[in-house]
Formats: sequence, C-alpha cells, structure tokens
Amino acid sequence: MSLYRILRPLLFTLPPETAHQLTLNGLRLLGAMGRPKTGAAILRQTVLGRDFDNPFGMAAGFDKNGDAISGVHRIGFGFAEIGTLTPLPQPGNPTPRVFRLTAERALINRLGFNNRGQMDALARLENWREKSPQARPVGVNIGANKEAADRIADYDIGAQRFAALADYLTVNISSPNTPGLRDLQSGEAAGEIMRRVRAAAPDIPVLVKIAPDMSHDDAIGLAELARAENIDGLIISNTTLARDGVASSRHKDEAGGVSGAPVFDMATDMLRAVYRASGGKLTLIGVGGVSSAAAAYAKIRAGASLVQLYTGLVYEGPGLVTRMKSELAQMLRADGFSNIAEAIGADARRADKGENVT
Ligand code: FNR
Repeated sequence: MSLYRILRPLLFTLPPETAHQLTLNGLRLLGAMGRPKTGAAILRQTVLGRDFDNPFGMAAGFDKNGDAISGVHRIGFGFAEIGTLTPLPQPGNPTPRVFRLTAERALINRLGFNNRGQMDALARLENWREKSPQARPVGVNIGANKEAADRIADYDIGAQRFAALADYLTVNISSPNTPGLRDLQSGEAAGEIMRRVRAAAPDIPVLVKIAPDMSHDDAIGLAELARAENIDGLIISNTTLARDGVASSRHKDEAGGVSGAPVFDMATDMLRAVYRASGGKLTLIGVGGVSSAAAAYAKIRAGASLVQLYTGLVYEGPGLVTRMKSELAQMLRADGFSNIAEAIGADARRADKGENVT
C-alpha cells in the first residue's frame, strides 16, 4: 500500500488549495535532496529539439510560480510546465475556487490565473537555471492579465521575457476562468498572437494550448494556422466547461473548468482528430484525464509526443509517475516497439490502413 493511500484522507480534510500548498512545499524540499533517476531507455526521446527522459510532464497550473521545479522532476516527471504566468501579479478569483469531485476523479477550478507575476518567476527561473544546468526541460506557460488593456500584447510581453530561459513556451488562450480569454482562439486573434509570440521568441519551441470545448473542425483550423505561423505544436487540452460525467456531483454547478477523468475522452478524441489532420507535422502534447499508463499510452497512440497530467496526481499521489513509467515501458515492449517515438500516432496509421480504431 502506498504512503499516499494513508496521507490522502488527511490531505482531503483540508481545503484543496491548502493541500496543494502543502504538497508544493513538500516538493520544494524534495527537490533540494538530490537529482531524479534516469529512466528506461525505451521512454527516452528527443522532442522539440530537447531530450526527454520520459514523456510525462507536470501540467500547467500545479506550479504556477516555478517554486518547485526540481521537486517535480525529482518525483519522476520528464519535464515541468510552470505558469500560467501573467505580466503583472494578480490574485485570481475569490475563494473557494477549487472543488474536489472525488467520486468522479475530477476537479473544478476557477482560480483565474492567480500568480505572483512574470518578473518574480523570471528571477527564480534564472537562479534555478544557474544551479541546475543539466536539468530536465521546463516549459513556461504564458497568459494575459484579466485587466489588461491589450491582451494580445500580454502574450508578446511574456514571450519576450521567457524566450531566453524556457525550453518551450505555451500560449494559453484556453483558460475558461478569465472572461473572454477563450475568444482569443478565434482565427484572427490566434493568428496575431502566434505571429507576435513567434517573432518575440524566434529560437525556442512555441506551443498553443487549446480548449476541448471547440469543434474538431475549429481545432484542426487552429492547427493549420499554427503550421502557417511556424508554431511548433499544440497542447490538447485545457479544462472543459462541459459537465458530462459530473452531473451527480454536488459541485457540478460551480463555475469553472472540469479536469480529470471526465475530460479524458473528449481531449483524446480531439488530439486524434488533430493528429490525423496535421499528418504528424505538429508536435502534440496530450493532457486531460491521465491517471494510468494505459491512458497515457492511448494519448501517445492517438498522436501525442508527450503527455501531461495534474488531476490524476491529486487522486493517485506522486508515486503515480514512477508506476506509469514502468508500466508504459512494459506496454511498449509488449507491442513490439523499441522506442516510444515509434508509437506516436500508431492508431492513426492503423486507421489509415482501414483498421477499426476508436
Ligand atoms: C489547471 N490547468 C491550467 N492550465 C493552464 O494552461 N494554466 C493554468 O494556470 C492552469 N491552472 C490549473 C489549475 C488547476 C487547479 C487545475 C486542476 C488545472 C489545466 C491543466 O494544465 C490541464 O490542462 C487540465 O487540468 C487537464 O489535465 P488533468 O488535470 O485532467 O490531468
């Protein structure tokens, strides 16, 4: 029985944000206590010009300010994504603003980009880079302040600030918790943001994180736009506004985005559709509802080069990452793959040959 099975009921007596802060503090300490272990060779690959020990990444929102990057790596993640960071600090929405839907293995959050601002994180990241030259990749997820007069300019500012320090940038235009932010996913605004971020950060990979609530056609349209604007990839997906799968929860009417198990199918279906349409020419990161190696493997076969998770960790604990790595390695071997890179999009290739793949 894992230690987390014992700890979880205690943590769950605390409000979600208090439990989260405790976890972050714990990871900060852990990060100072040595380096992560290298994993199985079958999980290692080069993506976006960076070397990844394994495909598992901590999704954005967990370590918004970059307080615990080493700790995130230390529990086994192949990469960490910090943020969302906005140009100016902001408090986010009033509390309570995170809810556990335990029976559904889900969360609803309406944090609203609470963060200490980009300048604070920039200083910490700079310091961390100096101390950890060989560390695993770190992505920086950038957003816009709620009160910004020009939200598109905020993405430009974030890109300029982190261009020299991030292994990749994520343009988050899909949070449901900043009113109107998702409107930036429309072609014209998205195109302008992509152009400006690309120009501000010409030398590092840039990915755009999208919502699972748009149609597949619109997601494919954004993927085409991304290709046209020299964007490297998409992160599919952010939280959903849909309440499918959580209808019996007492929290179902809380405003915010649902994450966890209920997002898995919709995010994976969208990922598969975008992968098939873009012919593997964009790098896709799959996120949403991963809490097992089988779920991660499904995203990889659907077209994800890398997989992120957040909510799964809340329910399964930090040991999940190590477990998923060893199980994923076994699954890949059992299917005859000699490296994870061969499995990316394998379902789409089978479907192209006329086999029945859901
Ligand atoms: C998030 N997520 C998120 N995403 C993002 O791009 N910027 C952010 O600041 C946040 N903040 C955030 C807070 C909380 C409490 C949660 C649960 C989620 C979304 C997250 O990165 C991910 O896309 C979704 O949660 C789906 O993945 P999981 O949680 O089902 O693995």
